[in-house]
Amino acid sequence: MATQRLRVLSGIQPTAGSFHLGNYLGAVRQWVALQETHDAFYAVVDLHAITIPQDPEELRASTRLAAAQLLGTGLDPTRCTLFVQSHVPEHAQLAWVMNCLTGFGEAARMTQFKDKSAKQGTEGTTVGLFTYPVLQAADILIYNAHRVPVGEDQRQHIELTRDVGERFNARYGPTFTLPEPYILKEAAKIYDLQDPAIKMSKSASSPKGIVWLMDEPAKSAKKFRSAVTDTGTEIRFDRETKPGLSNLLTIYSALTGISVAELEEKFTGQLYGPLKTELAEVFTHWVAPFRARTQEYLDDPAELDRILAEGAEKARAHAAATLADAYEKVGFLPAAQA
Ligand code: AMP
Ligand code: TRP
Repeated sequence: MATQRLRVLSGIQPTAGSFHLGNYLGAVRQWVALQETHDAFYAVVDLHAITIPQDPEELRASTRLAAAQLLGTGLDPTRCTLFVQSHVPEHAQLAWVMNCLTGFGEAARMTQFKDKSAKQGTEGTTVGLFTYPVLQAADILIYNAHRVPVGEDQRQHIELTRDVGERFNARYGPTFTLPEPYILKEAAKIYDLQDPAIKMSKSASSPKGIVWLMDEPAKSAKKFRSAVTDTGTEIRFDRETKPGLSNLLTIYSALTGISVAELEEKFTGQLYGPLKTELAEVFTHWVAPFRARTQEYLDDPAELDRILAEGAEKARAHAAATLADAYEKVGFLPAAQA
């Protein structure tokens, strides 16, 4: 008897244009692997993107670019369901119900909200940014996903998802599957190449610290070669005393599948220079086919839109059924046929 596959759901925002290496190694890489073993749903979360002001034309272009990059990394629309969040309006509809089950204080404790709102200032912080994690909970619960592949920074949002889902189930009867975060230990966090104390992020202080997958590979290779490391000479993984070097070892290992221990062995007696040069080459080899595949989809937007339309249709079948069940349990009067 065929065993039922566990379901995964994840989402990525279409905000930065190109993905950076942290997005890929911390999150998207797992998506590709999971489509082989799970019933996988992946969304480009454009509703989340507008919690911060976006230029409309840029948002549309970034949404296609995000989808093209996901396909470029190896997502296969015959193996997973890839869609754009706003194409499945049931997410926003369920989010409203979940908003009404989430405590104000509970939402206010979300560290990502605290960080982002601190950057935006009180007047610049929207209510949408505040309820962002509740929409994320709806994204996950509406598919009854078992696992959510994300980076470490999203753990708190998955916990909130479980809490809110559990509250719904307790109040209205068993409805939602409570999801587990799925976080790869080895590559859960990629750090800035210039400031290895902070994670690689689009809001980095120096553009040299962040590796964009869609950049010219030569440009990224240079960033690896000039990555900040400690003044020592020994190639050894140690987050505390050698954060820069350790980050490079993590990236090298993640891109090649060679363990960090093997890398320490391989580079014994060598200085940091050769490791950086080799990592630059490893990255260039990895990124070239990714860029070529992504470009193929960008050059054929009709095909890309067709893939996304098919994904949305598959997603909606599940989302609509869950939403109808939730609406009924909450006590909404079903709309009669006119
Ligand atoms: P963001 O770019 O912040 O919207 O993140 C998109 C996805 O990439 C999320 O699942 C994050 O957890 C993950 N991510 C972002 N930055 C990093 C990083 N520096 N290291 C690991 N994962 C990351
Ligand atoms: N908040 C996630 C991030 O910043 C993106 C996201 C939205 C997401 N909805 C999701 C991730 C559902 C996993 C599941 O990366």
